[in-house]
Amino acid sequence: MKIGLDAIAFSTSKYFLKLSELAAHRGVDYAKYCVGIGQKEMSVFPPKEDIITLAVSAAEKVVKQTDAEKIDMLIFATESSVDLSKSAGIYVHRFLKLKNECCVFDVKQACYSMTAALRIAKNHVQCNPHSKVLVVGSDIVKYSPGSSGEATQGGSAVAAIVSADPRIMEIENFSGIYTSDVMDFWRPINCNEALFDGKLSAYNYLKSLGICFDQYMQKSRLTLHKIDAACFHAPFCKMAQKAGRQIFAEEYAHKNVDDSLIYNSLIGNSCSSSLFLCLISLLDNCAKNLSGKRVGLFSYGSGSVAEYFSGIISDSYRDMLTPRENASALKNREAVSFETYEYFCSNPAPTLNQKYETSGAVYLEKIENYQRIYKNLEENFS
Ligand code: CAA
Repeated sequence: MKIGLDAIAFSTSKYFLKLSELAAHRGVDYAKYCVGIGQKEMSVFPPKEDIITLAVSAAEKVVKQTDAEKIDMLIFATESSVDLSKSAGIYVHRFLKLKNECCVFDVKQACYSMTAALRIAKNHVQCNPHSKVLVVGSDIVKYSPGSSGEATQGGSAVAAIVSADPRIMEIENFSGIYTSDVMDFWRPINCNEALFDGKLSAYNYLKSLGICFDQYMQKSRLTLHKIDAACFHAPFCKMAQKAGRQIFAEEYAHKNVDDSLIYNSLIGNSCSSSLFLCLISLLDNCAKNLSGKRVGLFSYGSGSVAEYFSGIISDSYRDMLTPRENASALKNREAVSFETYEYFCSNPAPTLNQKYETSGAVYLEKIENYQRIYKNLEENFS
């Protein structure tokens, strides 16, 4: 039985900061950002938007493309969780009006978590071939203002339906995995911003990639030219390009890695969903017909767990995608000033008179007695 991605979509903020603006205020040469790390813009998030509102707006798009009655599992992958106990997925379940006979939970392992969620989803469908699983990765990435990580912030949610006979990509059964205890990036409880050792993280990313890829090649018995296109977890685009060159060397240009980075260069790092945003960018922007082609995927979550795996693109994949809508959603975002970015960074409480909108109809109205109160503009219930 073929199991994999039957629908996939993303959402991000309606607001972004140009990295030229950030560079000017931080006294950094803009070339460091656009050439050195490969980023042009980053999504920034108003007080009413969080990982849950983002996740709902991405998930709505894929649930419309499926028989929602068959969704009996929802897995929410994140490292920017808003609660240590209650699953963020429960809010998504409620706003999408999914049936109650549905298993909902969150998973965490830094940026690897959405890959972990897909593994669980695939196994669930293997045991229950008529089931559909909604997997959402949603993260808003924050580093301390003025730190070297600041220009790599960003955020998005990617939602996918995992099912049998997938219309976008079958996930193959072999993969290479590598886990090692490394303090390269972490976010202690009560810290709003992630802490990191940038050089160690880049070193461990590339080391893990080498090990996972060798293991993948041994298990799959494939040769390099059997991989037609490739996506790499993109904390910033240059990292993914370095990864692509490490694996494919002079074959790099034929693997369409740069097509996979178009959205990330405008959105920034979105941790759990970053790799799958790369996949959407590749499928939307690659001029080649990828039907029947193999896409290699490298997932890296600091701390650290890494996996190299692959998928075979379905014949119908183009019918399931919305490249024009995705391009116009990004084009229609509003650029904010550096001062507005600083205001967003100060974590202001959401209030009714704030003019900034969320990516979809659901917004965080307030936090009262430590409870997050959400509203749906279309339904007016909390
Ligand atoms: N013009 C052009 N290029 C320039 C330049 C200029 N004026 N100035 C610097 N550069 C180049 C540098 O040569 C360098 O390129 P190479 O890496 O090819 O040598 C690049 O720009 C970055 O410069 P630095 O190394 O001096 O930058 P930095 O010390 O400020 O750190 C960073 C950059 C490591 C990416 C930092 O932003 C960081 O630590 N980010 C957070 C951690 C991270 O994203 N790690 C990635 C792996 S971990 C992971 O993948 C999980 C995750 O999502 C977080």
